[in-house]
Amino acid sequence: MEKEKCIDRRSDSNILPPNSYFLPIILFFCVLCAVCCVLSAVCCLLYAILAPMNIVLVGAQWGDEGKGKVIDVLTGEVDILVRYQGGHNAGHTVIADGKEFIFHLIPSGLLHKGKTGLIGNGVVIDPEALLEEMQRLKARGIDVRRTLKISDEAHVIFPYHKRLDILEESWRTGRIGTTGRGIGPCYVDKVARCGIRVADLCSKEFAHKLRQRLTEKNRLLRAMYGERPLSFQQLLGRYQGYAKALAPHVVHGPRFLQDAIKRGKRILFEGAQGTLLDIDHGTYPYVTSSNATAGGACTGSGVPPTAIHKVIGVVKAYTTRVGEGPLPTEFPNALMEQIRHRGKEFGATTGRPRRCGWFDAVVVRHAVCVNGIDAIAVTKLDVLDDMDTIKICTGYRDGKKQIREFPSDIDVLNRAEPIYETLPGWKAPASESTRWQALPMAARRYLKRLQTLLGVPICLISTGSKREQAFKTKHWFATG
Ligand code: GDP
Ligand code: IMO
Ligand code: MG
Repeated sequence: MEKEKCIDRRSDSNILPPNSYFLPIILFFCVLCAVCCVLSAVCCLLYAILAPMNIVLVGAQWGDEGKGKVIDVLTGEVDILVRYQGGHNAGHTVIADGKEFIFHLIPSGLLHKGKTGLIGNGVVIDPEALLEEMQRLKARGIDVRRTLKISDEAHVIFPYHKRLDILEESWRTGRIGTTGRGIGPCYVDKVARCGIRVADLCSKEFAHKLRQRLTEKNRLLRAMYGERPLSFQQLLGRYQGYAKALAPHVVHGPRFLQDAIKRGKRILFEGAQGTLLDIDHGTYPYVTSSNATAGGACTGSGVPPTAIHKVIGVVKAYTTRVGEGPLPTEFPNALMEQIRHRGKEFGATTGRPRRCGWFDAVVVRHAVCVNGIDAIAVTKLDVLDDMDTIKICTGYRDGKKQIREFPSDIDVLNRAEPIYETLPGWKAPASESTRWQALPMAARRYLKRLQTLLGVPICLISTGSKREQAFKTKHWFATG
């Protein structure tokens, strides 16, 4: 008995007091937590660097929103640039190192070294315009011979398309104000299944196909408009020359992109025109003839919707439009002149003066909806610097009815009276700001109001035409 007690006492003395166990256990868990934190931070960083990130960039108004400028900022974060619709009706301006570049058909991101560009199947290509653009770039030190790819499924613009565009426009009651580049008639042939594609242009059957098409078009030009026929031999010779020059660039677009995606390359889809010029979702019939909205990136390039990760909408801090059609917030003459002059609002393709108006939140909400826009890039904030007050259109009035949603009926839109909200101007140079906090208070208030009205965050703000006059906000890509 005495012995047992003795043993018990001895073993008691071996047991550590309970407090002394806690410290190593707590220490162990602290170290474990710290390791986990570091590991997850490394994983997040690796994910941010390596994760697939295919972005569609769309114009969320009537084109000319400053897409070229925003693409220039975005290009550093991607590998491949894709044009997916439209043609050389587009004009995307990038001002880099004091030099101005205007891109019409070539993806504007190719201004950056080491990037590859694709002109997708949804684009209509005027070979003459494309080769000229390549030459112009080469003369300024940008050689795209190795970096530019062209989808063999893209349709080709011929001189009869251009002639028909101009003739149809002059005969039409209710002009559209097209760029006269043959864009609409080329898409007409595509949908009517009588177009000629890049693959045809480069094939042995080209002469045969051209002869068939030209016979039809010459008949049309003569009978409808009393025009002289186009010469087959001349056209054949010219286009065979183009085929030879373009052949080294030709690829199968969808396979080219699928392969790039498999290799972990990041793609930026460069939308041309804008949502309100989209053939389905725009102010029909005052639209262009392609799908300028985000969905067009899939059909116009051959990538599946599942390969798209983000959609960025570009808007001006106000509104502009070139050509005919409704523009509910259009400025009165004096203000129009003032903003046009300050914003240098003249078309990058045709030089036509752009019509200008206040920011229309109804229009951009519609764009957010049909494109699934994750975040907005706002350009040309500096143009509003001098304004005493700034208006935002939040709805329309049609007689006694108030409209909050974008109307599909063009007659309603033509009648629509904008309902405005007025905010104070900032009367200070926004162009001097390189971060959100540095923007004048009233400018931040204006932008915050836009975010609230649109229901999406602003991820980038541009305050001047130069490359360095833009900054990302905290919502940059944290948009999911
Ligand atoms: P895109 O077709 O959408 O690429 O736009 P355009 O290039 O046709 O037109 C936009 C014009 O605005 C170009 O002349 C740009 O240089 C200019 N621009 C872009 N961002 C800004 C900006 O923040 N401030 C000013 N003042 N000009 C800008
Ligand atoms: P970017 O890419 C602004 C307009 C024309 C016309 C209508 C139809 O620079 O934003 P079309 O020649 O396409 O049949 O003309 O569309 N338009 C544009 N407006 N920016 C553009 O391109 C445009 N491309 C076409 O002015 O009203
Ligand atoms: Mg433009």
